[in-house]
Amino acid sequence: MDVMRIRGGKRLEGEIPIHGAKNSALPLLAATLLVPGVSEIHNCPRLSDVDASLTILRHLGCRVTRCEDVVTVDATAPCRSEIPDDLMRQMRSSIVFLGAVVARCGQAVLTHPGGCELGPRPIDLHLAALSRLGVQVEECHGTIRCTAPQGVQGNEISLSFPSVGATENVLLAACTAVGTTRLHNAAREPEIGDLCRFLNGCGARISGMESGTITIEGVRCLHPVTHRVMPDRIEAATYLAAAALTGGDVTLTRCAIQATAPVFPALEQAGCRLCRLGEDTLRVRGPQRPERLGTVRTLPYPGFPTDGAAPLVAVACGAKGTSVFVETIFENRYRYVDELTRMGARIRVDGRVAVVEGVPRLQGAQVACTDLRGGAALAVAALAATGETCLTNLTHLDRGYEDFEGCLRAVGAEIVRETVGKG
Ligand code: EPZ
Repeated sequence: MDVMRIRGGKRLEGEIPIHGAKNSALPLLAATLLVPGVSEIHNCPRLSDVDASLTILRHLGCRVTRCEDVVTVDATAPCRSEIPDDLMRQMRSSIVFLGAVVARCGQAVLTHPGGCELGPRPIDLHLAALSRLGVQVEECHGTIRCTAPQGVQGNEISLSFPSVGATENVLLAACTAVGTTRLHNAAREPEIGDLCRFLNGCGARISGMESGTITIEGVRCLHPVTHRVMPDRIEAATYLAAAALTGGDVTLTRCAIQATAPVFPALEQAGCRLCRLGEDTLRVRGPQRPERLGTVRTLPYPGFPTDGAAPLVAVACGAKGTSVFVETIFENRYRYVDELTRMGARIRVDGRVAVVEGVPRLQGAQVACTDLRGGAALAVAALAATGETCLTNLTHLDRGYEDFEGCLRAVGAEIVRETVGKG
């Protein structure tokens, strides 16, 4: 088992290059299944969730290579259309393979991806949307069997909630459907745009992705393309939070500034100065001590991103005054709060609301990651805490942050990762 030891109190200073976005790479890899031939994905982050996706693609019969940040997927002849439970359970977003498998193979058998640390993760919107496309869905004993006897048929679909995953599944199922699909109340997250750019590069005919109503004209087949994954806006938000809480002066390079912008008002409210130095270069200077953040309410894009809340809660823990966070996307996104409390944080959680009373100094402690973004929050808090923090359950962090400790060490953090004992 690995642990991360962080000795807090250092101002972060220097440059951090942002990696490719986990939440773009995962649907992009599923999309390669639609393309007979060899697709090439650049800037693909080295993360355990990406590894899980590559395992699923290999299981389905694709030939997959990886060299540095370049992944190739040869999906000339996938031979399977079922994904076993052990692979489905490796990550929540395995459900995004459903639309691609049904579209390519005419059928799909997989199991429910199961809940996760954020609470129940239903897939009712995914299945209802696919049913609208002529996919027959049978659920029995946790297994989902989908068939498209007449092939996937274009149709009008309205999502009751702009679900990112359900939007992705519709895009993957509909781009080679017979006829046109119009998806209303579609998610508008930047990763959706990245997926549409990949699919259009392969010959799909998708329009309207920023508008919330996406039109997909089915085409007969797609052709291979080389695509570069967009930068990770949540990784960027995490490092901005680290600079904010340590009074640092950090420049992010290879950053998707516009996609990251929804977190800027909260950071500026905390007293950060943000300065665009170039197309993809952003400088942040943190205050001596953050001001209270006011009220931060998470919303679908272009609102404040739910994944960016936890790192900002860590900033609020050390701020002057009280900040309020309202989580509107997931049911249970505060499991990490008990761990922050061990570091001296003063947080009251009531359902989806967290009230954070800032303290002058957090204290280093032994804490455990409860989920991906909660683990990032603990690390951010540790960077400003007095003394040493020992962070465990790092597998959560490894799902979404490539070389987390290396990036922070490069800007002056005292952070080491060591293997202790078995498991
Ligand atoms: C994606 O999850 C991201 N994951 C999440 O990032 C992100 O928090 C989320 O979008 C919201 O932006 C990936 O892209 C791999 P949703 P997804 O479908 O697609 C409910 C991270 O930390 N819902 O928009 O699962 C659902 O329960 C992760 O990187 C239904 O009720 O998000 C949730 O409350 C965490 N029925 C809300 O909608 C459904 O069929 C948002 O879910 C689907 C979703």
